[in-house]
Amino acid sequence: MAEKALLRRIAPPKQLAGEVAVPGDKSISHRAMILNSLAPGNSEIRDLSLGSDCLSTINCLKALGVRFKRQEDRPGALVIHSVGSTGLTEAQNVLNARNSATTMRLLSGVLVTQPFLSILTGDISLRSRPMKRLIEPLRLMGAEIYGRGENSFAPLVIRGRKLHGLTYCLSVPSAQLKSAILLAGLFAKGDTTIEQSQLSRDHTERLLERMGAKLESVNTHISLTPLTAPLIAVDVHVPGDISSAAYWLVAGAIHPNARIKIINCGINPTRTGIIDALLAMGARLKLVNQRLEGNEPVADICIESSQLKAIEVDREVIPRLIDEIPVLAVAACAAKGNTVIRDAFELRIKESDRIMTTIQELSRLGARIEELPDGMLIHGDRPLLGTEVKSHSDHRLAMSLAIAGIIAKGETVIHNAQVTGISYPTFWEELGRLARY
Ligand code: S3P
Repeated sequence: MAEKALLRRIAPPKQLAGEVAVPGDKSISHRAMILNSLAPGNSEIRDLSLGSDCLSTINCLKALGVRFKRQEDRPGALVIHSVGSTGLTEAQNVLNARNSATTMRLLSGVLVTQPFLSILTGDISLRSRPMKRLIEPLRLMGAEIYGRGENSFAPLVIRGRKLHGLTYCLSVPSAQLKSAILLAGLFAKGDTTIEQSQLSRDHTERLLERMGAKLESVNTHISLTPLTAPLIAVDVHVPGDISSAAYWLVAGAIHPNARIKIINCGINPTRTGIIDALLAMGARLKLVNQRLEGNEPVADICIESSQLKAIEVDREVIPRLIDEIPVLAVAACAAKGNTVIRDAFELRIKESDRIMTTIQELSRLGARIEELPDGMLIHGDRPLLGTEVKSHSDHRLAMSLAIAGIIAKGETVIHNAQVTGISYPTFWEELGRLARY
């Protein structure tokens, strides 16, 4: 019975058509909950991501004394009752971020400032992801934070205390690290400045500005003044997640008979690398109804069947499409020519080693992909043939394989496919709705 629930079977549909509202952006959802939990008063989040990563953030915040109220009639609507940053209380148990690195890293940035003990753990995947890069800058701010394996991995132990500001050069373009430092800097003594080697997603900066924090962000430079008054609680209408939209964008582009419209999707320029890559590949993609909602740009995105051609993807664009590379590899399999993806070493330390797992599973379907230390070389325009593939418990790989299954001849069977619930609980229903057989 449980075995059966883990399998998903995909056959190539005759047509893909319809309108999709993808789940609320996962990155913005985490930040809306964490930052509003530090701001005294009530706030309402609409269209929150209901994936299990965001549920991990809710559970951890609840354990720290924050109260949430779900709106029964509106899934994705959540009211946060916060007593402010001084109202957080020591958790009775270990905080479990499960698969969510964003939960673990952002909450660490808060907890190092709180006058109590916290222990954070995660699932087997999260416990193998690098935490030294988080621990090091926080320790430079005076934090008492420890990790397993000489401060390399979770579980993390934190004894909160008063910190001082920091001037830090962030050598990896990681929004989770940047956000953890900024969150710690809010409550530190003295300013915090960050120089980023490259721009990463800037949702924390945008929300902090809305909530009254004194933060200046110019190109790759950020300076933050510690709070002199509490953050102001704000309602957040979370835009659709472009990382989830990416599956339908690639599906629409590679399927020979497709027309899909994604409505209310976030198009923050630090996240739109997948749009730029698909346009460069010749995709028939259009942005319509562009607007700004709560300091985040939003649009509807239309995509139609396209003849794709190979591209080269390197350093400049990588942080803007890091989570979309597995599905971009699927697009490259259908494109004319050889696509090269470089400078993406960070992919090896995501929920799985995504360079290795993407190549391994797409190769089972007949793709020809060469592994590079920091990317891959994909030989395009080869027919894919359905067979059994594994998700490696990686949500983004499971969904990318489903999109490959749309153009593969015969049946593609995905094992351990329920993992899509990490970020996109309704993915399989949506696929069923768009596909006509
Ligand atoms: C995220 C940042 C990125 C991204 C992850 C979500 C965030 O990770 O891959 O899915 O919400 O800040 P890194 O900060 O490790 O680059």
